[in-house]
Amino acid sequence: MSPNGDKAITVALVNNKGGVGKTTTAVSLSTELARGGRKVLLVDLDGQGSASRSLGLDREDLYPGVAEAMLEGLSVRKAIKPSYIPKLDILAGSMNLVSTDVFLADVEKREFVLRKAIEPAVSDYDYIFLDCPTSFGLLTVNALTSADYSILPVTPDYLGFEGLVNLMDAVEKTKDGIGEAAELLGILITMADYRVRVTREIGDMIRERFGRMVFNTEIRTNVRLREAPSYGKSIFDYDIRSHGAEAYSRLAKEVVNRIRQDRLKV
Ligand SMILES: Nc1ncnc2c1ncn2[C@@H]1O[C@H](COP(=O)(O)OP(=O)(O)OP(=O)(O)O)[C@@H](O)[C@H]1O
Ligand SMILES: [Mg+2]
Repeated sequence: MSPNGDKAITVALVNNKGGVGKTTTAVSLSTELARGGRKVLLVDLDGQGSASRSLGLDREDLYPGVAEAMLEGLSVRKAIKPSYIPKLDILAGSMNLVSTDVFLADVEKREFVLRKAIEPAVSDYDYIFLDCPTSFGLLTVNALTSADYSILPVTPDYLGFEGLVNLMDAVEKTKDGIGEAAELLGILITMADYRVRVTREIGDMIRERFGRMVFNTEIRTNVRLREAPSYGKSIFDYDIRSHGAEAYSRLAKEVVNRIRQDRLKV
């Protein structure tokens, strides 16, 4: 049974900074948990459809997807597609998401449209991962109100660190403003490249400042992680022996443990 009873645990990957590993992390965690026998839904909230494409969906497979479920009242179960990985389904992202922010602005309870749209599917899964777009717009706010937890991937460089401080602030303000929104599950250092001199220094700064909020597992730069999406495969199918696969497998365990510990508190 899922750690959340008969409802999926929902986790959003959030950072308004681009190219920090949100999609790679959403795809890798989803596939690793599905490989472990969990039933998982990956929701692709990015207009580029990168998460969906990374798992081999063709352009025409992106429709219908999450945009149609949110804005056109299409039943979410009809919009969900299986991926090539057993137990992993996808609610695809497409260009139709690009105008979502604008459309949502006029909708009643606009912060809760995603939550309402995916509600009928929530008991079909153990975990749902939400891959957020780069801007901190209404789609990200919708992800935060739909999720139990957020994970913030950050790159260990100066701008990454600076952005993180603002991002934490924005996530907290969203929570305070709306009343109910995702708890921060953890900060994930991604794309750590120790050939770059500041990596260790900034990594230490992040750990000093945010302490136990930072996952022990760190994702280093790994060429195989960069290559895998071009083949429409998860890192575990593309190169299971890579550092990237090993690190994401460790992260999946840490994520599940953190969620378990958090659930024990209540
Ligand atoms: N650990 C890593 N090592 C090397 N390349 C990586 C790693 N993680 C991700 N990448 C690559 O870096 C690029 C950006 O990663 P990704 O798409 O996951 O970031 P993102 O935060 O989702 O970006 P965006 O904000 O544009 O959606 C991609 O080409 C991805 O394959
Ligand atoms: Mg992305």
